[in-house]
Amino acid sequence: MITVIGTQWGDEGKGKIVDLLAERADFIARFQGGNNAGHTLVIDGKTYKLNLLPSGIVRDNTQSFIGNGVVVDPFALAAEIESVEKEGLTITPEKLMISDKAHLILPIHKTLDGIMEDARGDQNIGTTKKGIGPAYEDKVARRGIRIGDLQNPEHLKSRLQSLIDHHNISIKGLGLKQQNVDEIYSELMSVKDKITPYIGAVDQSLVKAHADNKNILFEGAQGSLLDIDHGTYPFVTSSNTVAGQISAGTGLGAARKSHVVGLAKAYTTRVGTGPFPTELDDDIGQYLGEKGHEFGTVTGRKRRCGWFDAVLVKHSCRISDIDSIALTKLDVLDGLNEINICVGYTINESKIDYLPSDITIWNTIKPIYKTVSGWDGTTAGIQNFDDLPIEAKNYIQTLEDLIEKPISIISTSPERSDTILRESYF
Ligand code: GDP
Ligand code: IMO
Ligand code: MG
Repeated sequence: MITVIGTQWGDEGKGKIVDLLAERADFIARFQGGNNAGHTLVIDGKTYKLNLLPSGIVRDNTQSFIGNGVVVDPFALAAEIESVEKEGLTITPEKLMISDKAHLILPIHKTLDGIMEDARGDQNIGTTKKGIGPAYEDKVARRGIRIGDLQNPEHLKSRLQSLIDHHNISIKGLGLKQQNVDEIYSELMSVKDKITPYIGAVDQSLVKAHADNKNILFEGAQGSLLDIDHGTYPFVTSSNTVAGQISAGTGLGAARKSHVVGLAKAYTTRVGTGPFPTELDDDIGQYLGEKGHEFGTVTGRKRRCGWFDAVLVKHSCRISDIDSIALTKLDVLDGLNEINICVGYTINESKIDYLPSDITIWNTIKPIYKTVSGWDGTTAGIQNFDDLPIEAKNYIQTLEDLIEKPISIISTSPERSDTILRESYF
């Protein structure tokens, strides 16, 4: 079993690495998040952009699971299935199973996501407005609706009634149009037949797959610094994104024993608001953004760019007990004379080497940098470690020493094949 999770603020290239490792996987499972994720795969020049569908969906040899920890917008899922089918993929119940216990994102959740963001004013989180937070709120408040409820119309209607009664109280206070249960019910019925064939007991299938010694790959979404508990709260997403969530989000207890691959970009990006100590507001930040095509897959927003922050990645390694690192987008650093790596922070004259939980001191953090040489020439497309320029090898070695984990995968372009594998997986 292998788990792939992000060690930064998302968009580390999880889609590419999951797709690569999926070559030898029998099952791929998502365990948290929803269609706030945007995972890009490039295979022989063809690009696939996935939001909810696991990145194994493009492979014929794998079955994809959407675990109970995921929140599912049934309209978005139906549209995504239709869209990838237009790209030539065939999605069947043999290829995709959605946990009956996964919670639904309803249109009301998207509306509330927008309202709450507006209400936060200049303290807004910059959410993807996909309804993720409000759907998880309803789940935790025990008034949520689960995918499996679609198969039981009477039960669904009564659950909807309680949910909408609840939300109509706050909506009324805001002077907005009251939600109508019958309308929502018939909208759900219009999409039901596109979803129900895929509903199944993901937990049981995974337990069986594990007992049969099948290769299972868990695909994280977002990144460790967006984790609801361990990230830069409150500028986070509404799920646990760390490896500890795999078992809870799939129902396979044994998943916690998987080999955890932490994904890290060779620099750092963040989309949305919140603290970012190594952010670059200068020409280099601009250069990284343009060279790395740093625009959000889901919202098209420009991603903020900065230097690699070893303090943050080390923090992520600790929380998820990461075994090895996959370093992506090394090629984006091609052409820089010097590269900085954040090795610690100064806060009011004192030095620290960890991530403080008190958000109010984040703005006073000053990164301490170690500067290393850049390299001439290009790393783009290199597939063998020995072919990398010596300075690039040194950069990788320096990161390994700082984060105290082996960098076992190095990615040098968006293409599946442009990857250096220093360790064999599965
Ligand atoms: P994810 O959310 O972690 O799956 O990452 P995204 O797909 O949102 O963003 C990563 C972007 O970088 C995508 O456009 C990838 O195609 C691209 N990418 C992945 N690895 C590399 C790489 O090594 N080099 C370059 N230049 N682009 C990469
Ligand atoms: P992938 O899987 C980058 C960010 C949003 C916002 C915060 C909360 O592609 O790495 P939400 O809609 O989840 O309530 O937004 O989290 N965010 C991501 N940033 N990559 C993602 O996913 C993200 N999913 C959410 O920008 O700051
Ligand atoms: Mg992404």
